[in-house]
Amino acid sequence: MSTNVFVNDEYEHDDRWTAVDAYGVSNLHPKDDANTILNGALEHIQNSDMPDDSTYPAFGKFLALHARSVKAKHILEVGLLGGYTAIWYLLQIPEAKVTALEINPHHSKVAGENAQRAGVADRLEIITGPGKESLAKIKTEVAEGKRPKFDFTFIDADKENNWAYFDYAADLSNSGAPIVVDNVIRKGWIVLPEHMDKSPVAGAREVIENAGKDSRVESCLMQTVSEKNYDGYLYAVVK
Ligand SMILES: C[S@@+](CC[C@H](N)C(=O)[O-])C[C@H]1O[C@@H](n2cnc3c(N)ncnc32)[C@H](O)[C@@H]1O
Repeated sequence: MSTNVFVNDEYEHDDRWTAVDAYGVSNLHPKDDANTILNGALEHIQNSDMPDDSTYPAFGKFLALHARSVKAKHILEVGLLGGYTAIWYLLQIPEAKVTALEINPHHSKVAGENAQRAGVADRLEIITGPGKESLAKIKTEVAEGKRPKFDFTFIDADKENNWAYFDYAADLSNSGAPIVVDNVIRKGWIVLPEHMDKSPVAGAREVIENAGKDSRVESCLMQTVSEKNYDGYLYAVVK
């Protein structure tokens, strides 16, 4: 471990984690049309003046396979960026629709272009605006019977609002639906006193601690290492 990982916001790297991800991708991600589409989406994101914050390939595929395994038809993603993970779901599950919330109109535009190129634009609903406002509207529409509840949710936006998004998702999910909240381990900073009260770590602790007291869900915490970082996710299933 490098000595500075606890004092700055750099990602933490280890050559083994990167090599293992490369090994997994070379063996388990066939070089097929889907692979070309997904790499093209990442390239368009990189060329569009956007942050390098898409999920890494192994995690994108894991989320999509997971959604596929629960036969998710309606997927909610909070934090779309350029649509990389959304396209993963839509390619893995031909009958699924994704409702994606994104505050940045430029990100929404690039995601829409990526979805067009991937041939999945008709199954990707992009709602541009602050996630909490969009979820309040969705909640009304679900209550009025104008849209279905969700079968799978991925929360990956502004970390300060993790709990607000989770709270909505728990109400808006069918029984058995997973909710995944990304980036809640943050190199282990969630348990270090010098970091735990500061944003975005505080937002990670808030959602973890509230989920633990929430009778709507059963939850656990998963640490991960990868080509991107030492991090992890909160995993919950709606009862
Ligand atoms: C980590 S990126 C999402 C990556 C995406 N899930 C993927 O894997 O391809 C976070 C996104 O959340 C968006 N975001 C930030 N604050 C938001 C908010 N209040 N409401 C909705 N989206 C927000 C950012 O603009 C950014 O595009």
